[in-house]
Amino acid sequence: MDRRNFLAGSAAIAGTQLLRGSGTGISAQTAAPHSAGALVPEQIAAARFPDGFLWGMATASYQVEGAWNEDGKGESIWDRWAHTAGRIRGAGTGDVACDHYRRYPQDIAILRQLNQKSYRFSISWARLQPSGRGAVNQKGIDHYKRVMDAVLQAGIRPFCTLYHWDLPQGLEDLGGWPNRDLAGYFADYAGILAKNLGDKIQVWAPFNMPWSFTNLGYGTGVFPPGRAKYTDFLKAAHTVNLAQGEAFRAIKAASSKATVGSACGMCPAYPKTGSEADRAATARYNAMNNLYFLETAMRGRYPNAFVGEIPYQAMGFRPGDNKIMQVPLDWIGFHYYTRRIVSASGPAAQRSAGSLATETEDTGAAGNEYTQFSAVMPTENPITDGGLEIFPRGIYDLVMQISREYNHPIIEITESGCGYLDTPYDPAGGHVPDARRIAFFRAELAELARAIHDGARVRAFHAWSLLDNFEWNDGYTQRYGLTYVDFRDQKRTIKNSGLWYGRVAAANRLDV
Ligand code: FCB
Repeated sequence: MDRRNFLAGSAAIAGTQLLRGSGTGISAQTAAPHSAGALVPEQIAAARFPDGFLWGMATASYQVEGAWNEDGKGESIWDRWAHTAGRIRGAGTGDVACDHYRRYPQDIAILRQLNQKSYRFSISWARLQPSGRGAVNQKGIDHYKRVMDAVLQAGIRPFCTLYHWDLPQGLEDLGGWPNRDLAGYFADYAGILAKNLGDKIQVWAPFNMPWSFTNLGYGTGVFPPGRAKYTDFLKAAHTVNLAQGEAFRAIKAASSKATVGSACGMCPAYPKTGSEADRAATARYNAMNNLYFLETAMRGRYPNAFVGEIPYQAMGFRPGDNKIMQVPLDWIGFHYYTRRIVSASGPAAQRSAGSLATETEDTGAAGNEYTQFSAVMPTENPITDGGLEIFPRGIYDLVMQISREYNHPIIEITESGCGYLDTPYDPAGGHVPDARRIAFFRAELAELARAIHDGARVRAFHAWSLLDNFEWNDGYTQRYGLTYVDFRDQKRTIKNSGLWYGRVAAANRLDV
């Protein structure tokens, strides 16, 4: 379908109106009140996914592995943070988590039982290099080799995220991500991984949600290491962009079969009003929260997320850095959870360091003197127990936007899901009747199928998450799993949503 037809089709189906964003080349759509969740049953019944579509589930090392100090693993910043009183709701830690470090055979068997074709997981850097640099801990390599063998034996494609937020504490002690040297250490780590596991893994993403851990860790201080200085965020983000480029090259040098993409967190953004100021603010939000680690790789330049000039000096940008960052990705991966409504604002106060806030609360990103936008999550539609507004159409808008802006790349949805607290219901034989999660995925996947039908090259979808797990600052007070975990005895119970998703994976349709 050509662009004109796409626009017409999109407008007819979703009743929305497209605007061009203030000369930035970034398009933004108006929020369409009342159009959000209402999908007709026919759309769900008609939704089809292509043969070979990669149905998958995702986890992250710190959230599931446990074994935090075993077999030579070093301390990570999340170990340090969770061991500090007052940081995590209910004083939860990842010390044991889902004990996936030992129970991975059982968990991979669940993936297989549910007809999954892709398992997205992350590697704990501190298991491989306890202080983040230097000698390799062979026990760490051996562990992940065993996990990969089990995944491959189950007929599942391993998708490896190199970094899902658990920086070795030894590197934070050297200054953390604002220290540019970390780009080199990260490239060394990437090379070690590709050299040792490249015969088993072909799909790699350097960073999970790079905006989140750099901004929340160094800009606002709600995540470890809990530093709150915007210029530290700018420096950290620049190091991460350099590291992404260096890691891409290191992986490819060590493994000729490797493909490298991304796992960015993204929120489709809609201007609050049709005013020029709100549309320009929305374009800045999109540049900062969605494209800041993508445009750098794909085109070797920063998107302008700022009022005025890009603050190269504050970032620590050096001549030639654009060439280091530029590594056209083999495919583009991103997460989708919810949307934002954006308006122009003046410089706003930062959240105070160390307050007990969750990632999702802060993902809205209050503006500051650099970005001057206010991004708010609307509450027009039902809100999950995890606190996010349900907006199925957002995945359609986001996928079509990225397809348009990057010339129809191969796309992977690296995460999407919802927090609901349903527990096993004994009279129903131990089942977990989480009907709201099924409704969430059904509506969202119908919108994803529509994007594929309209020409987007989406090849994979990873539900967050295989297991209920340690949900960062929320500890164990949120449950995103398609499998229920009883944290008292580690018993797993596949939720009704998991069973449903398994049928979807077998049939490539949603009315199962
Ligand atoms: C994403 C994170 C993931 C999990 C989900 C709920 O932002 O990547 O680790 O916490 O949110």
